[in-house]
Amino acid sequence: MTLAPSNLPQTASESPTQIGHEMIAILDFGSQYSELIARRIRETKVYSEVLSYRTTIEEIKRLNPKGIILSGGPSSVYAEYSPHSDPELWGLGIPILGVCYGMQLMVQQLGGQVEQAERGEYGKAALCIDDPIDLLTNVEDGTTMWMSHGDSVLAMPPGFELLAHTDNTPCAAIANHERKLYGVQFHPEVVHSKGGMALLRNFVYHICGCEPEWTTTTFIDEAVQEVRARVGDKRVLLALSGGVDSSTLAFLLHRAIGDNLTCMFIDQGFMRKNEPERLVKLFKEQFKIPVVYVDAGERFVSKLAGVSDPEQKRKIIGNEFIQVFEQESLRLGPFDYLAQGTLYPDIIESSGENIDPRTGERVAVKIKSHHNVGGLPENLRFKLVEPLRRLFKDEVRQVGRTLGLPEEIVQRQPFPGPGLAIRVLGDVTPEKLEMVREADFIVRQEVNRSGSYNHYWQSFAVLLPVKSVGVMGDQRTYAYTIALRFVTSEDGMTADWARVPYDLLETISTRIVNEVRGINRVVLDITSKPPGTIEWE
Ligand code: XMP
Repeated sequence: MTLAPSNLPQTASESPTQIGHEMIAILDFGSQYSELIARRIRETKVYSEVLSYRTTIEEIKRLNPKGIILSGGPSSVYAEYSPHSDPELWGLGIPILGVCYGMQLMVQQLGGQVEQAERGEYGKAALCIDDPIDLLTNVEDGTTMWMSHGDSVLAMPPGFELLAHTDNTPCAAIANHERKLYGVQFHPEVVHSKGGMALLRNFVYHICGCEPEWTTTTFIDEAVQEVRARVGDKRVLLALSGGVDSSTLAFLLHRAIGDNLTCMFIDQGFMRKNEPERLVKLFKEQFKIPVVYVDAGERFVSKLAGVSDPEQKRKIIGNEFIQVFEQESLRLGPFDYLAQGTLYPDIIESSGENIDPRTGERVAVKIKSHHNVGGLPENLRFKLVEPLRRLFKDEVRQVGRTLGLPEEIVQRQPFPGPGLAIRVLGDVTPEKLEMVREADFIVRQEVNRSGSYNHYWQSFAVLLPVKSVGVMGDQRTYAYTIALRFVTSEDGMTADWARVPYDLLETISTRIVNEVRGINRVVLDITSKPPGTIEWE
């Protein structure tokens, strides 16, 4: 469980920046793909970070990247407020690859010409290779690359040569070999670009001279050293939720500081059937990591009595969580540090959404506030320890695996902080919680049995406050309804309803109606997100 970073007194949070490692810096000009470029580079086992395009030359020198990639962006380089990096960049002697907008900026600042193309180019294009040297080695002539641009390079800057073109774009890839400056009009990072990874590998290994050294094991060793150096013999508190982030964090910290870590699991009474018991047992007996189990179920349920507004419910749960957390941490403490499962996407300074294409200004910070349970009061002045802050979610899974976390946790579907309380629509009672918990258990069992658990981003049951008439045996029934929610998604921001096989739906529906007292009807949610959300509240 993550506590909202914005509300925490971050007196001594760690710097997000990794140094002492070979690294490729990505300067973000507002592209929706900047993060993706970083992920692709990391796939080559070279560390990579996304930085704002405003990063100063001094800061870049301090970070000492082996190469720099300039991202795409929504602006036109000749627009009045378009984002520009410091032109000194070109003279640093560091290899640079400009992607789309990044290439156009390179061309404009180095004396070439960029103009609005007669016809923009969007989607797939066949890349005709004119010079298969360095950047395009092993990239097949005619390979598909993915384009998305309205502007084009009309004239290359002095010293540049043409590497490739497409039907629509005369300068699709260009290079100044001597200065190690490269530009591509297409997006090598997206999955539709067939030769994209080969190109990125060429850049990273051959042009920048990086070694493939960034692996999970090196990450773990370094993170353990770093935590030890930072925390020393002080005590650290971690709120365990049972998800992959907090579990991985627990493993990592336990390896680093052993008994000075206290894992606390607050059971609000909204967990899935058997989960709290299983989690505590797993940690204690199998992983040998002690967990303080706090049974707060009754407190939470009584606070929710009679409350049916979803936001109100979330607020009450959030506040109650903070109170329990505070009381328990005082009881178990004192602690110097609070461990947080902050991930890299949470701290990327300048993400695409944050830059206004007209002014180049940051407009809003991306904070998924509803994904966090709440902030901590001022008097809990913990320092933060956030060893996962450099990782993407899939990297956390990999680290968890390497540390020995079982697949059931590594692959666990996301589960919201407020738990089953937001899957009982309207007011929450112990009886209703029991119904949704049982229905959810059946869904989980049957999905597991069918071997399709990992096909879905989430698969769960929601209790609707709707009663309808049914007949069971010779008896008329008047009982509640369960809705099944099965979705596929990449990141939870958008989602599609999953095409669940009919026989699986049938088994689930039959079992729920037969086995869960109080339910006589099962319906299926076929709404995508947007316009729906994944959870119903
Ligand atoms: P929605 O319902 O907004 O959910 O489409 C998107 C994803 O976020 C999860 N979710 C939460 N996770 N605390 C969490 O840790 C929360 O309060 C919360 N609310 C929604 C949801 O399960 C889905 O994966």
